[in-house]
Amino acid sequence: MDIAKIFVDNEAWVAEKLDRDPGYFTQLAKGQDPDVLYIGCSDSRVTAEEMMGAKPGDLFVYRNIANVIPNTDISAMAVIHYAIEFLHVKHVVVCGHYECGGVKAAMQPKDLGVLNPWLRNIRDVYRLHHDHLDSISDETKRYDRLVELNVQEQCINVLKTPEVQIAYRNNQLTVHGWVLNIRTGRIIDLDINFEKIIESISEIYRLT
Ligand code: CO
Repeated sequence: MDIAKIFVDNEAWVAEKLDRDPGYFTQLAKGQDPDVLYIGCSDSRVTAEEMMGAKPGDLFVYRNIANVIPNTDISAMAVIHYAIEFLHVKHVVVCGHYECGGVKAAMQPKDLGVLNPWLRNIRDVYRLHHDHLDSISDETKRYDRLVELNVQEQCINVLKTPEVQIAYRNNQLTVHGWVLNIRTGRIIDLDINFEKIIESISEIYRLT
């Protein structure tokens, strides 16, 4: 990638926006009011805005390796708090993707240095669901299923935070678990039954 060309392309983008609407950036500078918090993978192929047809201002975005939301990740906790308490987003989306390098790396029993504590979050997802995952003999299908289950577990982690619990109960917020099928470009809604999940974990995780 030619870094210098980025500035040329940026100028072309600015010109195109101004051509359509001379007040575009003046309006953008006034502030943001996104409806969606998007939590996804850092993978360079999974571009949140482009694949969702979203514009600047539509999504509040948080991306990390394999879209993981550990409660010790102060950045993730701050993003969730800010999105709900200050931006009043109506939807939280956790979006994984097939062929996720982070998920694949987590499946290798290997010392990966500083990646170990991060990938352990996914290794723990595998441990939680290992009976089901081990019953899938096809390796690609097993990886795909782990990607889906990782999304489900990270949605549950989102639901363990008090601000999400309050907004969810007040019907101000919906949580969505999605997977991008990188082989087709299509977003799959995993249709996770959060009501059932919340019910089953409320005994220990209900904070409010
Ligand atoms: Co990934």
